[in-house]
Amino acid sequence: MEQAEIGLIGLGVMGSNLSLNIAEKGNRIAVFNRSPEATRKFYAEAGDLQGQIIPCETLEQFVASIRPPRPIIIMIKAGEPVDQQMEALKPYLSAGDIMIDAGNANFRDTMRRFDNLKDSGLTFIGMGVSGGEEGARHGPSIMVGGKEESWKRVEKVLTSISAKFNDDPCVAWLGENGAGHFVKTIHNGIEYADMQMIAEIYGILRDGLGMSASEIGEVFGKWNTGRLNSYLTEISEKVLKATDPVSGKPMVDMIVDRAGQKGTGKWSVIEAQNMGVAATAIEAAVAGRILSSQKPEREAAEKILGVPVLAEAPKDRAAFLADLENALLAAKIGAYAQGFAVMSAASTEYNWNLPMPTIARIWRAGCIIRSQFLDEITSAFTKDPDVANLIVTPAFSQMVKETDGALRRVVSYAVLSGLPVPALSSALSYFDAYRRGRGTANLIQAQRDFFGAHGFERVDGVDRPHGPWGSGLNQS
Ligand code: 6PG
Repeated sequence: MEQAEIGLIGLGVMGSNLSLNIAEKGNRIAVFNRSPEATRKFYAEAGDLQGQIIPCETLEQFVASIRPPRPIIIMIKAGEPVDQQMEALKPYLSAGDIMIDAGNANFRDTMRRFDNLKDSGLTFIGMGVSGGEEGARHGPSIMVGGKEESWKRVEKVLTSISAKFNDDPCVAWLGENGAGHFVKTIHNGIEYADMQMIAEIYGILRDGLGMSASEIGEVFGKWNTGRLNSYLTEISEKVLKATDPVSGKPMVDMIVDRAGQKGTGKWSVIEAQNMGVAATAIEAAVAGRILSSQKPEREAAEKILGVPVLAEAPKDRAAFLADLENALLAAKIGAYAQGFAVMSAASTEYNWNLPMPTIARIWRAGCIIRSQFLDEITSAFTKDPDVANLIVTPAFSQMVKETDGALRRVVSYAVLSGLPVPALSSALSYFDAYRRGRGTANLIQAQRDFFGAHGFERVDGVDRPHGPWGSGLNQS
């Protein structure tokens, strides 16, 4: 029997959909699941695609069904199960075979797995896959990290299954070892910030302007035809307009305001902090989810502290809505600029040589943060791939200048009204701090020197490393 081009282990929702996508694009695929019933069920339901699928009930049969060097996608719960699965597979593999972790792995685990396989003749790919169930079935965005020759082995299959933006496939090899999973983590960090900012704008419309869910849905629908056109704007409209079949009320009003998180946002913040990159909007988004989860505490605090009286809403509703649209755009620019800055630092730190224009390019379709806006980011980085920060590129500096006034007005209104806007306001402060040549850290340096004799640089370059504080330290 003709061997499969690729194998996949783990027929959960993502694994099944990815397998069907692979088969549908004309690639022969061997599949395996820990419980054979799941494999049988998957095969039985594969319909016309059965001819492209080799269902396997033992790892031995599975491995033997794949053309060497064998690329094997592991699509199971991230963490320990991946290590266990790799160990179970190893005895059946031969030199050159490639285990591919397609889950949301912490890139540090990916780096460790590469290291562990170093002298084994086997290799690894850490592959970020974005787009959820629908993306896996019909075209995800795929971020590949590993050896370039491993990429060459899987390039054809992955290109065939990836999302396309104007026929351009949203898949790329981004660098060695943990590069793909790192980029996916930052994708998720940006996703967190984008979602938090949308939720903050929703809060202003709901609690500030008193609009209903469906009215707010209309607003997002309108914005989706403009510069905010994106998957997240689109689904916000759909979600806000949906009715709960049980109560007949807007679905969104029946959902508890407590957000979950699985860790990728937090990892983005930790890595940004480790490398000394300010990713304040992502930090605010992660903190926003944490505060959201403390619902009983928040309810108790409201009883004690109350909430501030709303500021007078701007009289010109249409102008304020235009401000909200521009404010969201401005804040998004801040969040994306921060995400790309984190990746740029990681590229240096881990010698990945991450291609910024390519990353933006493969995020234009398939993934959760897909948008028109990413096409503009692609152009900006293509023109200037080594720019220090997205917000100083000609196109984006212009956009910031056009929209930051609106962000300032929106944040001011929210702050005066006691409506929480941590991500929007952090983006604004980021712009204000980043573009101010003279900041206030001279005072911090003086304080550090005062209590800890840490020294400082002088503006006139004169060599006198300590101040005349009277602490007895280095006084002249
Ligand atoms: C994607 C998503 C997907 C998932 C994340 C975020 O790119 O398809 O990012 O990977 O939504 O796991 O999940 P949490 O919000 O639960 O952390």
